[in-house]
Amino acid sequence: MTNSEQTSVLITGGNKGLGLKAARRLGEQGWTIFLGSRDEGRGQAAAAKLTTGGANVVMVPLDVTSEESVRDAIRLVREHTDRLDVLVNNAGASGRAIAPADATADEIHSVYDTNVYGPVRVTHAFLPLLRAADNPRVVMVSSAVGTFAVVTDPGQPAPKMHGLAHRSSKAALNMITVRYAQALPEIKFNMVAPGEVANRKFAATDMNRHTGELTVTEGTDPIVEPAMLDADGPSGIFIDRLGRIAW
Ligand SMILES: NC(=O)c1ccc[n+]([C@@H]2O[C@H](COP(=O)([O-])OP(=O)(O)OC[C@H]3O[C@@H](n4cnc5c(N)ncnc54)[C@H](OP(=O)(O)O)[C@@H]3O)[C@@H](O)[C@H]2O)c1
Repeated sequence: MTNSEQTSVLITGGNKGLGLKAARRLGEQGWTIFLGSRDEGRGQAAAAKLTTGGANVVMVPLDVTSEESVRDAIRLVREHTDRLDVLVNNAGASGRAIAPADATADEIHSVYDTNVYGPVRVTHAFLPLLRAADNPRVVMVSSAVGTFAVVTDPGQPAPKMHGLAHRSSKAALNMITVRYAQALPEIKFNMVAPGEVANRKFAATDMNRHTGELTVTEGTDPIVEPAMLDADGPSGIFIDRLGRIAW
């Protein structure tokens, strides 16, 4: 069992990019990190790096597209704790940039399986552990391109980038997050965009072939902040590292 006084967090897709950096930063707070990774080898390697830095890490094999994997993950987490303070639904897929005219339901489905059904699968499974915590928080890692405000702003590059799957999946995730926040006031549900929407900046990771202008530390600022909210903090809001953003 982990120390019941210690704050615990499960981060999906924690083996690299923003997930790994968020794990490192929350580990530095002395939290117990349940590091989700769909690939066990990549997860072990990431966990080893954090452990070397002094963090308390449990690697959790977790593919968010698999019900069985989610069931196994909850079993493993329960071996270590009887409550979960924070869940960060970070795992995400960008899909291929296929123009709407060429997009198929299969293509969209595979992205939704990770970005929409994944957070629902994981959130649903971990609700009992979250409810056992004093001040449970769920952070949904969304995207600025999932907002109508950005996608319909001619000053942003997004209107000219014609992917269907990824943007619409994040828009769906936003609505799902708001619905959870409204229905479950005992848990804080907030969504974050890992960038600076006003400055059209995002964080350099594998997902964008490291074209982002922000560091992963800057990209994780809006993940770490709602993960660390006090009991009187907000629920159902959408932020980037500069503050609240429009939908
Ligand atoms: N970088 C940005 O500025 C930015 C902007 C907007 C939104 N985001 C969002 O931020 C989140 C993290 O992205 P990132 O930029 O850090 O990209 P990344 O470095 O490519 O990381 C993506 C993570 O998601 C994991 N993942 C993908 N499918 C999964 C599945 N089915 N089950 C479990 N894990 C899975 C990946 O695991 P593998 O290593 O096994 O592939 C990886 O750990 C995503 O939700 C993304 O949409 C990022």
